[in-house]
Amino acid sequence: MGKVYVFDHPLIQHKLTIIRDKETGTKEFRELVDEVATLMAFEITRDMPLKEVQIQTPVCEANAKILAGKKLGIVPILRAGIGMVDGILKLIPAAKVGHVGLYRDPATLKPVEYYVKLPSDVEERDFIVVDPMLATGGSAVEAIRSLKKRGAKNIKFMCLVAAPEGVEAMQEIHPDVDIYIAALDEKLNEKGYIVPGLGDAGDRLFGTK
Ligand code: URA
Repeated sequence: MGKVYVFDHPLIQHKLTIIRDKETGTKEFRELVDEVATLMAFEITRDMPLKEVQIQTPVCEANAKILAGKKLGIVPILRAGIGMVDGILKLIPAAKVGHVGLYRDPATLKPVEYYVKLPSDVEERDFIVVDPMLATGGSAVEAIRSLKKRGAKNIKFMCLVAAPEGVEAMQEIHPDVDIYIAALDEKLNEKGYIVPGLGDAGDRLFGTK
């Protein structure tokens, strides 16, 4: 079963509280989501492998460490996932960015893929799929299915706020995918919003309603 990591770093928790507050406007919301994404990227990359190289410092020759693992791909789920990309790229500027777009079929209520564009070397990369909210899990499950279908093998999922229902769906359908979150909230309400959550992440990021 995929593990769930809750990032309880004080800075992440403090910023998340301001993100949740309904008085926080679009500009500050966007900036804080970006900052939390950077902090979460720092934590999520803890297990990246290193290798030793020899370098010449101004003083002497030295053994030093550089990253050695597979290259990374970041895949935001459209549209709210876009709000987390730049924050991650600040720490991992060489990562390539793919996109997955899904809409909810009004008849079946199931997510339907309408756009997928991934790096061409998808089989050679490790992926972080990002979306601020993991609610029912429908979009995340489908986006990850889409990546796997195209050859992605090692995938992590990162979001700000998750509902237990979404975590359960992910663990059932993608037990190989670990989930990294800033908060595990109480439940979903009858409209599918996470409680207490932060409202509609896409609308708050982009100033739409
Ligand atoms: N998507 C959102 O943006 N917010 C929720 O609470 C649930 C899904």
